[in-house]
Amino acid sequence: MDIKKQLNDVRNQALKELDDIKENTDIERWRVRYMGKKSQLAEIMRGLSDVPIEMRKTIGATSNAMKAELETALIAKEQEIKNLELAKSAEDAIDVTLPGRIQHQGHIHPVTQAIEEICGIFEGLGFQIVEGNEVEWDHYNFDALNIPKEHPARDTMDTFWMKGGSKPETDWKMLLRTHTSPMQARTMESTPLPIRIVVPGRVYRYEATDATHLAMFTQIEGLAVDEGITFADLKGTLNEFVKRFYGPDRKVRFRTDFFPFVEPGAEIAVSCAICGGEGCRVCGNSGWIEISGCGMVHPSVLEMAGIDSTKYSGFAFGLGIERIPMLRYGIEDVRNYYSGDLRFLRQF
Ligand code: DAH
Repeated sequence: MDIKKQLNDVRNQALKELDDIKENTDIERWRVRYMGKKSQLAEIMRGLSDVPIEMRKTIGATSNAMKAELETALIAKEQEIKNLELAKSAEDAIDVTLPGRIQHQGHIHPVTQAIEEICGIFEGLGFQIVEGNEVEWDHYNFDALNIPKEHPARDTMDTFWMKGGSKPETDWKMLLRTHTSPMQARTMESTPLPIRIVVPGRVYRYEATDATHLAMFTQIEGLAVDEGITFADLKGTLNEFVKRFYGPDRKVRFRTDFFPFVEPGAEIAVSCAICGGEGCRVCGNSGWIEISGCGMVHPSVLEMAGIDSTKYSGFAFGLGIERIPMLRYGIEDVRNYYSGDLRFLRQF
């Protein structure tokens, strides 16, 4: 018989059978039959020695091409069966041996956690939570807080000024608030007494960033105004806050400090939790960690807001938030908070 025809018949037969195959075990059988050492193809090739040399060449080429064709068809078939099996197992079975997929769950940012905890404590003490604007007039950020133009205290808060922002018929200029204190002035101006508020929010300083400084950070402002409020109320409130937030064993220290919008002004520190007041790296060997500025609302600030300073008095305080989880968890670089690095954030 014509060898070429023989080859062609084998090829056609092989492809037809392959086409009908639906399972892996049949593939193996097919491979042995058509591509193995005892396959028809191999047999035909062995018979080639009887064929004249010229013909042998062309038949050799044909059979090689055929082998390649069968191999390609085989690979395609194997893939087809694999896909079929995958689809089938996905359809009707859960592979309990597969490792589970981690479901990443979002959670509250550490700074927001601190805000919520602190605001919760002040709510428990009868304070209301209000939020102000991050874009603010210099009037509320400075003037209404007893920091007039040219006052040196303005230099301590490098300011982002908004281009072209000014209020018609005034000399007010627009800025990104440098502290949450402007909400003191706004609230006193617009809210009936008595006032007890805390104001969490972002503030901005035109500063170079480093491990302890950010151009954007977070504060919580506190304000209480009523008849007969004294420094003892300020101390009592902040003592209570420290006990509830930092724990009953922490000591509180008040020292005089200056802020234009309070008189007298003070700085509050709590005893260092790391060394218990002995002095360590975290507290800069002082045994104390400063947490807040505070004081009695300056009479001029009350008067500017339309409050009779002979009848009413108030206290105010301002806490920086980023420092709090830093001290609690030993975070060494404040820039971590806002880098968006999930490896950092997932720890809290
Ligand atoms: N606003 C001040 C600052 O950002 C902090 C501050 C000090 C707020 C004393 C107060 C206060 O309410 O009484 O540096």
